[in-house]
Amino acid sequence: MALVADAGCDLENYLRYPDEGLDGRIAALRAELGPRVLVLAHHYQRQEVVRFADFRGDSLQLSRRGMEHPEAEFIVFCGVHFMAESADLLRAEHQQVILPDLNAGCSMADMAEYPQVRDCWEQLQELGLAEQFMPITYMNSTAAIKAFCGQNGGLVCTSSNAPAAFRWGFAKRPKVFFLPDQHLGRNTGVKLGLNLEEMVVWNPRLALGGNTPEALRAARVLLWKGHCSVHQRFLPEQVDRWRAAEPGIKILVHPECSHEVVRKADLTGSTDFIIRQVSQAAPGTRWAIGTELHLVHRLAEEYPTQIISPLDNDGCPVCSTMFRISPQHLAWVLDNLTQGQVVNRIVVKDQVKHWARVALERMLELSHHTVSQGVHPIGAHAGH
Ligand code: 13P
Ligand code: SF4
Repeated sequence: MALVADAGCDLENYLRYPDEGLDGRIAALRAELGPRVLVLAHHYQRQEVVRFADFRGDSLQLSRRGMEHPEAEFIVFCGVHFMAESADLLRAEHQQVILPDLNAGCSMADMAEYPQVRDCWEQLQELGLAEQFMPITYMNSTAAIKAFCGQNGGLVCTSSNAPAAFRWGFAKRPKVFFLPDQHLGRNTGVKLGLNLEEMVVWNPRLALGGNTPEALRAARVLLWKGHCSVHQRFLPEQVDRWRAAEPGIKILVHPECSHEVVRKADLTGSTDFIIRQVSQAAPGTRWAIGTELHLVHRLAEEYPTQIISPLDNDGCPVCSTMFRISPQHLAWVLDNLTQGQVVNRIVVKDQVKHWARVALERMLELSHHTVSQGVHPIGAHAGH
């Protein structure tokens, strides 16, 4: 199909074109808009989109980019909904955030709905336990959940600063309430020296989350029953198979994988951590990587001297919602901007904006001061 000269502002027109037919069009629109537009892409985005990004990064890095670039009036966020919301919370007054496809959500973030979390908190209050728990939410959550944490003294964290966030929480209260990813929460607790028995899961469909009052009183960490459907598919047997087939192979996984996988892995960390490990390794290092497939494929392409395989060689661990952001959607939003129209703007509601921002700013403050200090085991809480 011929190169698109001008598909107009109708998304349907753009959707008729194949990915590669849009390269010239997107480049021309970007040139026309210049520094007024900042395009951000998460590491899980597909290459056809990533190649037009000003920056690619993990969710923590990207959440800061908008504020670091005040010259950009429009932040086009090629990621998922909660990431664009976070950028909206941190943006300057004159900036607007756009998510190219509004259907790009995150199934994990959707697993913690505000009414369910409020209900959980009320049950903890009835037991006289709520004030003992420091609420900490993973970045992968709605703005309403971030606001809940901010309002109740807590904060947001990402996979790169979860240990620092837990330490911060334990320095202030004896217990942590972590949501929505039970795996990141459990892996972080273990990393800081907690036993598995000290962490209990809250199932929002059951009374008291499926726990007894005694179990909640004894717990040090309460984990929301959420997960990432991409990372939960990695299995300890896959690690065993790689080790048997290729002795010496390094297993590198994201902390959204289950504890059983993380325990067997050599290294665990955020998307940015995964990239750094590969980029710093000696040539010829063999890797089996447990994270989203687009990132694994990109690493294999960018580091040809390393021998890189997906941890799950049989399945296809792709984040289907990230994949919704297409070159067609990107071209469509940029075309609209050239015509003075903002489509798919993400605006966090006023009633949650303040406290969600407080929770995010506490995280930024924390990562500024403590992330570089690394991870240390948790000591007993002063009031414990
Ligand atoms: P990072 O914070 O490591 O970028 O991960 C975000 C995410 O959604 C992983 O599934
Ligand atoms: Fe959400 Fe998982 Fe996709 Fe990350 S990979 S955006 S946690 S569904």
